[in-house]
Amino acid sequence: MKGKFIVLEGIDGSGKTTLAHAIAEAVGGADLTFEPTRGAIGSALREGSFGDIPPAAEALLFAADRAIHTEEIRKTLDTGRWVICDRYLGSTVAYQSASLGEGADWDWLLDMQSKSVIEPDLTILLDIDPEISLKRVAVRGEALSRFEKLDFLRKVREAYLRLADLLDYAVVDATMGPTMVAETVLGIMEKKGLYAPQ
Ligand code: TYD
Repeated sequence: MKGKFIVLEGIDGSGKTTLAHAIAEAVGGADLTFEPTRGAIGSALREGSFGDIPPAAEALLFAADRAIHTEEIRKTLDTGRWVICDRYLGSTVAYQSASLGEGADWDWLLDMQSKSVIEPDLTILLDIDPEISLKRVAVRGEALSRFEKLDFLRKVREAYLRLADLLDYAVVDATMGPTMVAETVLGIMEKKGLYAPQ
């Protein structure tokens, strides 16, 4: 039996990490992983080592990092273990379409990844107003990345909501607090046959 593949999407400070731990505990353990990865391309992207490159190049690099990561995820799922991934293909569509602006080609952003991703059993979008999420990130004392400007994140949020419609993501209000968010998500998983409370 293959493990289940759960993806968490949302802007920074939406609570993906906390939710990943809550789901893993509820289902009796899972491999928690994230993108950009700690691999060569993912690390370089996070550190901005590629410099000021065109958003389309950035999209291809995030997708390449994902293609490599996907092979690891596939191996884990084949052992029967669950994988919970913090960001996956939706991040590239949401963030890089926001960077590309008016001319963003959604078909291209989705098609160029289509051969190198696994279809998740469930993708959850933790939806939050970036004004609130940025305050959460500030409280954590983390430095803001170049992707974390308010106007930009508003566009990312909009793109995420459009994508959720298109790809049937479960949209969850991330302002409810961690306990309610986790309960809501477990409720969605139960309805989809992915979780049975003990
Ligand atoms: P993030 O999850 O915030 O990593 P960390 O917690 O280590 O900073 O990811 C870093 C940034 O990368 C984040 O602001 C979103 C951006 N990103 C993209 O623009 N496209 C992508 O495809 C991915 C995976 C991330």
